[in-house]
Amino acid sequence: PRVFYLTRHGQSDYNLLGKIGGDSGLTDAGRKFARRLADFAHNHVGMKVEKDEETGEEKRTPQPARLWTSTLRRTKETAQYIKHTKIPAFKWDNGDEVEWIQFQGRARRNLDELYAGVCDGLTYKEIEEKYPEEFARRQEDKLTYRYPRGESYMDVTLRLEPIILDIERTREPILIVGHQGIHRLLYAYFMGLPREQAPYVNIPLNTVIELTPLAYGCTEKRYLLL
Ligand code: F6P
Repeated sequence: PRVFYLTRHGQSDYNLLGKIGGDSGLTDAGRKFARRLADFAHNHVGMKVEKDEETGEEKRTPQPARLWTSTLRRTKETAQYIKHTKIPAFKWDNGDEVEWIQFQGRARRNLDELYAGVCDGLTYKEIEEKYPEEFARRQEDKLTYRYPRGESYMDVTLRLEPIILDIERTREPILIVGHQGIHRLLYAYFMGLPREQAPYVNIPLNTVIELTPLAYGCTEKRYLLL
C-alpha cells in the first residue's frame, strides 16, 4: 500500500494487572481508545484528502481501506466502533453505482500475540518466581527463547510471512490492530532493523504508527490518540 498503520489494542484487563497473554477484554480506558481509533480510521485511514490547486480548498473523499485484527477479543473490541460503511466507488454512464465497503475487515490468527505457553496469564514477577531458569534464559536471548509449550519471536517471524506478503501486495491503506510482540516484528521488518533488535522495539499503547513504504525501508509518523 501507499501507507499502512500499526496500532496495539486498547488497554486490556490483563495489561492493567500486568499479566501477559490471555484473552481479556478492554478496560474503560481501552474502550476510550477504541472510540478515538474509530474517529482516526474514518477521518484519516479511510479518507483521501486532496488540495484543490486552484481554490486551495481541501477535498475529502472516503476511500476503501482494510482493517485487520487478530482473533483475540482485545483487538476485535478495539476495532468495534469502526464502521463498515458503503461508499460509492464508480458511476457508469447509465447512472449505476458500484459500491465499495470503506473498511473491509478480517480477523487473522497469524496476528495473534506471541503465545507464552505455560507462562500465559502470569505476571513477569510470577514467571520469575515459578520458572527462574526460564526467566533468565529469556533475558539472555529474547529473540530465540521459546516459552515451554509456547512460541519464540523467531517462531512468530515465520507465521508473519504471509501477513507481510499481503501487506506488500495490498493496494488500499491497511489499519492493523494487533499486539506488542507482533508489531515489534512487523515494525522491525519494514524499517529494516536487525532481527535482534525487534524484541525490544518500543510499541506503546494509545499510539498509531503510520508507515509509508519507500524503495528501501519506510518513513514513519506516530499519532498519540489521548
Ligand atoms: O504485556 C503485553 C504483551 O503483549 C504480552 O501479551 C506479551 O507476552 C508481551 O507483551 C510481549 O512482550 P515481551 O516480549 O517484552 O514480554
